[in-house]
Amino acid sequence: MDSLDLVSPDLFRYKRKNFLVRDKLRPKDLDDLQHVDIRPTDIFLITYPKSGTAWMQQILVKIMEAAQPDWVEDATNRVRVPWLEERTADNPFRERPDPRIFGSHLPPDMLPKGVKDKRVKVVYVWRNPKDVLVSLYHFAQSWVMLDSPKSFGDFFQQFLNGNAYMGSWFDHVREYYAAQDQLDILWVQYESMLKDLRGEVVKVCAFLGKNLTDEAIDHVVEMSTFKNMKADPKANYKDLIETNRYKKETMRKGVAGDWKNFFTVAQNEHFDKVFEEKMSDLPLTCVWEIK
Ligand code: A3P
Repeated sequence: MDSLDLVSPDLFRYKRKNFLVRDKLRPKDLDDLQHVDIRPTDIFLITYPKSGTAWMQQILVKIMEAAQPDWVEDATNRVRVPWLEERTADNPFRERPDPRIFGSHLPPDMLPKGVKDKRVKVVYVWRNPKDVLVSLYHFAQSWVMLDSPKSFGDFFQQFLNGNAYMGSWFDHVREYYAAQDQLDILWVQYESMLKDLRGEVVKVCAFLGKNLTDEAIDHVVEMSTFKNMKADPKANYKDLIETNRYKKETMRKGVAGDWKNFFTVAQNEHFDKVFEEKMSDLPLTCVWEIK
């Protein structure tokens, strides 16, 4: 095996992103993903980790079920929206009914080339990075693929230094912002979904060209609330509980502003300073809290 550029015992760096040492995926596999055969009808759901991936998976699945009855299937969202970088050569998972929906955390330059060339639809969900940090901290504590952080303070620094899973949040968002013109992309803010889930579902339907009735939209919204997803074994990732050290749920809190329960005043000031340095030139407004 080629030697990996280790960031920490659990993560290796490739093309400025951090991948899982305990996963099968290696740099060559990541390069191979660029050549995955893409169909113009494919849809990509892209996120930085812990930004609302499972939530948008559910929304997309429920929209597709309403729009295309032959898309209805008795399987989990994890099966129905396969993770692009989860498996490599043995790829029956790619043979999903059209339109195929893929999940991915990859940056724009590591996506299959067909995503740009065929102008496939990309839904990019982003969330305020303070809550992403807190959510990822909890996830790293329990997910066996990652080492449990020594302390919140340690993880805070790891995240700001771009040494957490998938690398820097700031870079991820910036890279997608810079690639906007090359992609057919819809930006969806996690906090906008918290404030007005129906409004965001309507936007996603319009982007995908799916003309649903009001009742169908209501159903998508109803199935995608935190409470209903938590109780839905196809949406709540309970099938992955074996990969969880403490058998904790990934449907944790689902709010905006939980970081206030974890950040010290000094950490918050430091975060704000870094955020200002790295993001102030972009016209993106984070929603830090919803009361
Ligand atoms: P918290 O850990 O802050 O609760 P991802 O799916 O990208 O891993 O993101 C996980 C985060 O999304 C978790 O955040 C989880 O609770 C939240 N989430 C999942 N479904 C949600 C929903 N229906 N409404 C609000 N938040 C949701």
